[in-house]
Amino acid sequence: MTSGLEVRPLDVLHRDRIADLLEATGVFSESERTVALELFDEALSPRVATSGAEPDYSFLGAFTTDDELAGFACWGPTPDTDGTYDLYWLAVDPLLAGTGAGTLLLSEVEQRLRSKDARMVVAETSSRDDYEATRWFYAKRGYTEAGRVADFYAKSDDRIIFTKRLEPAAAGSASTPEHQGVNR
Ligand SMILES: CC(C)(COP(=O)(O)OP(=O)(O)OC[C@H]1O[C@@H](n2cnc3c(N)ncnc32)[C@H](O)[C@@H]1OP(=O)(O)O)[C@@H](O)C(=O)NCCC(=O)NCCS
Repeated sequence: MTSGLEVRPLDVLHRDRIADLLEATGVFSESERTVALELFDEALSPRVATSGAEPDYSFLGAFTTDDELAGFACWGPTPDTDGTYDLYWLAVDPLLAGTGAGTLLLSEVEQRLRSKDARMVVAETSSRDDYEATRWFYAKRGYTEAGRVADFYAKSDDRIIFTKRLEPAAAGSASTPEHQGVNR
């Protein structure tokens, strides 16, 4: 059981760990994992890092006290919307599941979005049985099913669109931008 977790930005050196972690979850296909790594490469490219503009994709990692990457989140502004953001990826090493990394990452992403007056987070997932725990995870954290496309991913594998509306950040409750920790 992990007793302490810390959220920090990721580095290119974490790429292999992310690849392993995505595979270890057992729920993502090879092409999905490839897309995740493409987004990671894009997000950490010097061109994006130095542009000054809001990035299309942002990544954060949750680290154990042993500095092991337990999980990561990736999100970005939904194109052509005003204040809506997609949570593109949220994944935690199954060996460290249930230790709070997913909750910590999700709440940190939401906190960062509130601080920039984002209105809504969209998280898409699947209706497959192996995503049942994930659906519960989102539901218990204030996400509601806003839409469903039957047979979207495959026959009997629906695309479920969860959304959560964000309240504006309370004055004086600023997030710590690059460092956020929790103990459980
Ligand atoms: C869903 C996921 C991100 C949750 O991360 P986590 O670090 O295990 O979550 P936490 O420890 O913060 O919270 C555990 C909660 O998640 C749920 N959960 C989901 N999958 C779980 C798992 N494999 N093991 C333990 N708890 C799990 C539990 O119901 C628990 O709920 P509760 O504490 O509210 O009762 C993680 O299990 C995961 O990466 N799953 C596979 C990939 C995935 O489905 N990503 C979601 C986007 S598609």
